[in-house]
Amino acid sequence: MDSKWDKLLAVSALVIAILIVLLLNSCQKESNTSFAISSSETITIDSTKFHKEPYRPQFHFSPEKKWMNDPNGMVYYKGIYHLFYQYYPEDIVWGPMHWGHATSTDLIHWNHKKIALFPDQLGLIFSGSAVIDIHNTSGLGTKENPPMIAIFTYHNMEIEKAGKLNTQSQGLAYSLDEGETWTKYDKNPIISNLVLKDFRDPKVFWNETAKIWTMVLVAGDHAKFYTSKNLINWELQSEFGKNIGAHGGVWECPDIFKLKVGHSQEEKWILLISINPGAPNGGSGTQYFIGDFDGKSFKTDQKDIKWIDYGADNYAGVTYNDAPNGKRIFIGWMSNWLYARNTPTKNWRSAMTLPRELSLSKVNGNYVLKSNPVEQFKKQQVSEFSKDLISIKTEEKTTFTYDYFNQSELQFKAEAKNLKLVFSNNVNDSLVINYDAKQKTFSIDRRHSGIVNFEKTFGKDVHKTAIPNITSNTVDYQIILDWSSVEIFLNGGIYSFTEQIFPTKPYTKLSIQTDEKQEIRNLTINKIKGIW
Ligand code: FRU
Repeated sequence: MDSKWDKLLAVSALVIAILIVLLLNSCQKESNTSFAISSSETITIDSTKFHKEPYRPQFHFSPEKKWMNDPNGMVYYKGIYHLFYQYYPEDIVWGPMHWGHATSTDLIHWNHKKIALFPDQLGLIFSGSAVIDIHNTSGLGTKENPPMIAIFTYHNMEIEKAGKLNTQSQGLAYSLDEGETWTKYDKNPIISNLVLKDFRDPKVFWNETAKIWTMVLVAGDHAKFYTSKNLINWELQSEFGKNIGAHGGVWECPDIFKLKVGHSQEEKWILLISINPGAPNGGSGTQYFIGDFDGKSFKTDQKDIKWIDYGADNYAGVTYNDAPNGKRIFIGWMSNWLYARNTPTKNWRSAMTLPRELSLSKVNGNYVLKSNPVEQFKKQQVSEFSKDLISIKTEEKTTFTYDYFNQSELQFKAEAKNLKLVFSNNVNDSLVINYDAKQKTFSIDRRHSGIVNFEKTFGKDVHKTAIPNITSNTVDYQIILDWSSVEIFLNGGIYSFTEQIFPTKPYTKLSIQTDEKQEIRNLTINKIKGIW
């Protein structure tokens, strides 16, 4: 009997040992590879300090106080980038529009300036653009001191209240001291309008090929092109867009410019048109058309609808006139009319996207407008962590803890396989970014990212985008988080995604997960220096 028990005991011990080994094995599979990065500085956002309120972006442009929407009048002159913007100085919701003003020498650090344009008897000052009239074609300055000229839309509330259609016309103002002080042209409006309800957002530029001032503006469901010799008298040349592109809402804030295709000599014109509503994630978004412009009319054979950004929060973006080295620099308003007035900030509302350099490529025979943060942004990066190779096994996670995720940048190259990134904090807020290789989609899930209930659509859906232009075996990720935004660029800006987020506490954890074996290369985590 004893020996029987001995045998039984031995067998049970063996079974238990096997079970323990199996268990340990499976535990190992689930166990996390953990990297803790100690930040070189601890973040304390002191909300009593200038630009340190909760959710205040630390490296994106935002107004010192009160409401901001579209970027306006973006022009570079004598080493200075001017940024004007739709501004209401009395409240943190939209109201009678002025042009706010800021300047920068590097597109990253900004000086807040005095308000440039105030409403007058002709109306509120809606969106528009600015040029330097270097040969004084307008006669409003001198050849020695060329005027800076702003051309904008007047929106007349009295006419609107009277139920008439001619509420919008185009006005001109000029500055003889590089944007410090402004005089309205005394024969405004320069383009009047009797019949169109929507007639706005003029983008003016010097067309070097056709040697003439050119304007594109929008009229509800189409764009209108004008030319002028002196910036004051404008001649209508053509219309574009009634039956082409996205028309889920009114067309707004156009821009048109030329770019080389990759490194080739081929050149194409790009027409940007913001539309609200009707964007892929609902509400506001910016579509673009690639085509040809002969100085008078724009033509395209584009069939598909293209968006400059597939996130929910990049609207009304336009580009700089006269940026150095022929660069095409874009800034968008980092919000969406669905909830722009409701976001949970105090004292100020809204920020701009990071300035982005636009370039044109051909992917699979298809033109793609790429966006990438301007190179000056690199100066803000402080390297915190880097690793050449991280191998993640099937069903495994790699977790990083870092108290600076809300002011950071991550870059890495992954295989084009399923990959999930989850930024979270200890109160269960999570921002989930998901690359789905089988479905070929990329998604941002901000449903549980923090405060989302200030408006019904903000946290309602996962924002999923088809990404047919990711054709390589590897995917380059660049993810930039500020206190209330995330910007993601895939494969050198072939796709970009911009979204607002309002975590109730800073994200301190990032977990990288996959259901397939995955190799992540050249991972860097940078802290981003604040600009204020
Ligand atoms: C776009 C827009 C423009 C208009 C401005 C008014 O966001 O609606 O069309 O000029 O905002 O603030």
